Amino acid sequence: MTDNTFTPRVFSGIKPSGGLQLGNYLGAIKRFVGMQGEMETVYCVVDLHAITVWQDPAELANGTREVAAGYLAAGLDPTKSILFNQSRVSAHAELAWIFNCVARVGWMNRMTQFKDKAGSNAEKASLGLYAYPSLMAADILLYHATHVPVGDDQKQHVELTRNIASKFNHDFKTDFFPMTEPVIEGSATRIMNLRDGTQKMSKSGESDMERINMLDDADTIAKKLKKAKTDPEPLPETVDGLANRPEARNLVDIYAALADITPEEVIAQYSGAGWGTFKPALADLAVSKLAPISVAMKQHMDDPAEIDRILANGAEKAREIADPILNKTYDIVGLLRS
Ligand code: AMP
Ligand code: TRP
Repeated sequence: MTDNTFTPRVFSGIKPSGGLQLGNYLGAIKRFVGMQGEMETVYCVVDLHAITVWQDPAELANGTREVAAGYLAAGLDPTKSILFNQSRVSAHAELAWIFNCVARVGWMNRMTQFKDKAGSNAEKASLGLYAYPSLMAADILLYHATHVPVGDDQKQHVELTRNIASKFNHDFKTDFFPMTEPVIEGSATRIMNLRDGTQKMSKSGESDMERINMLDDADTIAKKLKKAKTDPEPLPETVDGLANRPEARNLVDIYAALADITPEEVIAQYSGAGWGTFKPALADLAVSKLAPISVAMKQHMDDPAEIDRILANGAEKAREIADPILNKTYDIVGLLRS
């Protein structure tokens, strides 16, 4: 349960490393938009997370604007949500250092994302990649965020955030940090690769046909969905019939998330249909929902000065929340300042 002494507040973020893809949209951004207006919402472009692996400096700046353009095009409104990029608010890095001293090496060793990303070459991974979950905990707890909408792959990191908050509170005999809830809901918490339904859709995959990019135009979106891998069977009578059919399951989940209905409702509508019926219907739906966002995103990216202004304003508002929380943390830890 969320401690009700904390004001409900949402925080989430996306890394500017490569282009945004459908998993980012359905698993994260679309849900960010849904929470806007329900409670206070703070959404960040986490550029300090991106540099845990090498980023070309010129591409990083543009990538940061691209994620911001995706936020705006999807419906995040800078008058309703705080939108900013992480490096502009230095308190993130400062709180992360304190959390590096709270988190235990054993906890970090259990992080599956680090194992996946570093692979067999962990000795050569950056220290930042290893410490990344502690920076993520700082992002969240710097705002005393109570709710964090993320895709399924981030669940372990939000759990670690709770462990860090709890150890900090215990070690310093305080109840200063909240127990943040991950919000992992709906049919789109894990969108899979269009060519291999056992792999997660991601920004970095070998073939562009595996993913739908938020910047893809209508024809490209339709083509990729029509060419998506499937099996020879028609759609089943019930959702249970999708078990062991990862590609079919994924396309049904994508349809459900785009149409704002449940996978059960999709199956009720299409049970017995072959791919020759379902794929064109999915392509039409996807084009109608995604192509306007892609157009709007390009328009935002044509005005980088406006994006920079929005992010700078957002950072000012973010600091108003973050700085007092960081100051109080310094006091609790006993760090002497003027
Ligand atoms: P990242 O691109 O790793 O910074 O991810 C940003 C957000 O998008 C996180 O909340 C992820 O969990 C979410 N996300 C990324 N890929 C997917 C996917 N294939 N399905 C669902 N959510 C995703
Ligand atoms: N680690 C997240 C990812 O890779 C991005 C992220 C960084 C984040 N800080 C966050 C998500 C804080 C939610 C809250 O997708």
